[in-house]
Amino acid sequence: MIMTRTARLLALTTALVAAPLAAQADSWTLSGDDSRISFGSVKKDTVGEIHRFNGLSGTVSKDGKVSIKIDLTSVDTAIDIRNERMVEHVFGKENPTATLSAQLDAGALEKMKPGETRSVDVEGSLSLAGKDVPIEAAMFVARLSDKRAMVTTDEMIMLSMADLGLDGGIDKLMELAKLPGITRVSPVTLRLVFDRSASDSASMMKKDEPKATMVAAVSGGDATKGKKVFRKCKACHVADQEKNKVGPHLMNIIGRTAGGLDGYKYSKALADSDLTWNAETLAGYLANPKKYLPGNKMSFGGLRKEDQITDVIAYLESVAK
Ligand code: HEC
Repeated sequence: MIMTRTARLLALTTALVAAPLAAQADSWTLSGDDSRISFGSVKKDTVGEIHRFNGLSGTVSKDGKVSIKIDLTSVDTAIDIRNERMVEHVFGKENPTATLSAQLDAGALEKMKPGETRSVDVEGSLSLAGKDVPIEAAMFVARLSDKRAMVTTDEMIMLSMADLGLDGGIDKLMELAKLPGITRVSPVTLRLVFDRSASDSASMMKKDEPKATMVAAVSGGDATKGKKVFRKCKACHVADQEKNKVGPHLMNIIGRTAGGLDGYKYSKALADSDLTWNAETLAGYLANPKKYLPGNKMSFGGLRKEDQITDVIAYLESVAK
């Protein structure tokens, strides 16, 4: 398929929306208030103007399907009569909604962390006024937080009115406004902000945790009993001093970044894990180290009893400084 400029523009929008969302293998919802699509026009060769669509909505599904709806009647050109004419003669009153669709690789962006950015090429289609145009665009994705992602165009998208079948409408506008010329190619930019839905993020937080990690808060255990449990760890760990043995020291382990000690050589699995040790993550790891963090090098079978886990965590907390 040949990618037209128009197609690129649309694709860009699509890519923007879809990529960060799909990465989490979760569904995401477009925040209409924080998103916009702008496009430029030039009339009489000399007057440049910027317009926008305010009415955007959309979602990215768990399997990476992106669908963004643009309410074409929300076009804002700063002049009411022009807005009306655009809807009536260019977009068409019959079906004044454009839809951007794209399929994202739901796993590809999974590892994006808050603050991380990346460029992605997105393919999709734009359907407008009964026409379906393939699109391909370079988008820039920024992970704003665990629950928010922003997708913007990495470059302007040049959209051809002819490709979109809007040429006739533009002719009509020229005639009505008695203009000698109106842009036939519009530069388009997109800013799409997506929020992960609350229920999805809750289920996501749980999904990596083994059953055995359903544990009380850190303080829920008995530190005295935990000291005895810690005998199982002593061959490899010191908890009350900053001293590494076969394993890294466990001083102030609660709140520490996993694989975070400078002087200890961790396995790649632990070093790259991006975990913080707290009651839940410790419980999951100690119940079954191999399963919780595949590839980590702690040769320990795991603590089978839930109170041994809560107790040893309470002990680790009690010796923290
Ligand atoms: C046979 C040795 C051995 C035993 C026994 C053992 N560990 Fe470990 N532990 C290690 C090693 C080695 C690592 C580093 C793993 C890696 O880099 O993949 C580690 C890592 C850890 C970490 C991650 C520390 C960090 O800085 O991220 C914690 C927490 C931990 N162990 C707790 C325990 C507890 C609690 C016990 C006892 C219930 C225990 N371990 C038993 C060897 C052991």
